[in-house]
Amino acid sequence: MSSQKNIESLQIEARVFPPPVDFAAKAHIKSFEELEALRAEASADPEAFWARLAESELHWFKKWDDVLKWEPPHAQWFVGGKINISYNCLDRHLSTWRRNKAALIWEGEAGETRTLTYQQLHTEVCRFANVLKQMGVVKGDRILLGQVVVNLVRNALDAMAQTPQTRRRIVIRSHSGANTVTISIRDYGSGLPADDEPRLFEPYFTTKPEGTGIGLTIVHRIIDAHEGTIEARNNSDGGATFWFNLAYLPQHEGVAARAT
Ligand SMILES: Nc1ncnc2c1ncn2[C@@H]1O[C@H](COP(=O)(O)OP(=O)(O)OP(=O)(O)O)[C@@H](O)[C@H]1O
Ligand SMILES: [Mg+2]
Repeated sequence: MSSQKNIESLQIEARVFPPPVDFAAKAHIKSFEELEALRAEASADPEAFWARLAESELHWFKKWDDVLKWEPPHAQWFVGGKINISYNCLDRHLSTWRRNKAALIWEGEAGETRTLTYQQLHTEVCRFANVLKQMGVVKGDRILLGQVVVNLVRNALDAMAQTPQTRRRIVIRSHSGANTVTISIRDYGSGLPADDEPRLFEPYFTTKPEGTGIGLTIVHRIIDAHEGTIEARNNSDGGATFWFNLAYLPQHEGVAARAT
């Protein structure tokens, strides 16, 4: 790599604009010296610095085991810790002086304004969470759960390769129960391979010439990681149905659980 300078910046700004004194007095970091001291602390021991702030500024349902796991190129922070962002933003302030303080000041295009205190915002959040809960929202990783559906739909399509056009159909249903939501994917294909049902979720089990046999293994792992269950069976009128169950948000781990 060349060390030659190809771009010269002519815009050098060295002026400093100090904030008004009364503004600075109310700020979290009140002076340049305070900022420099923080910076020095952070660069001397980044892990200790962030651990100190995480401890003093946030509420943890479970404290972390390791501040940082750094296995290049992967960095994991606060490994083993349990935290909820909504609880930190809202709930924990409800028992303090902030309860009746403005949490959100909204101003619309036409100049109309609306102010919500922490308490009012919490009520609104709970109301909205309740709507989501009624719609069957569960705790989960959207991308991973999307992958589950994609893998199951792909299998359903493969299974229907020989199905006449008029019968070729995939039906995806969701059903909200008292504590769980169930998603089912039903096809009108060949049906599950006879006698091999117990092996469906085994790694490398495939009946397809080009198959790798890991689609359902991945599905099973993801559902396991979400503490859910997955099953499959043949339909009485042809084809197969796969369905999985996921539990609603557990208590204290998300807004929906606290909805009133
Ligand atoms: N909807 C279905 N209908 C009938 N058989 C199915 C269905 N879904 C899965 N299977 C059976 O389960 C086997 C394993 O599926 P899995 O998704 O794990 O691997 P695969 O589809 O063969 O390959 P890939 O790793 O590319 O997904 C399939 O080869 C097939 O025999
Ligand atoms: Mg597959």
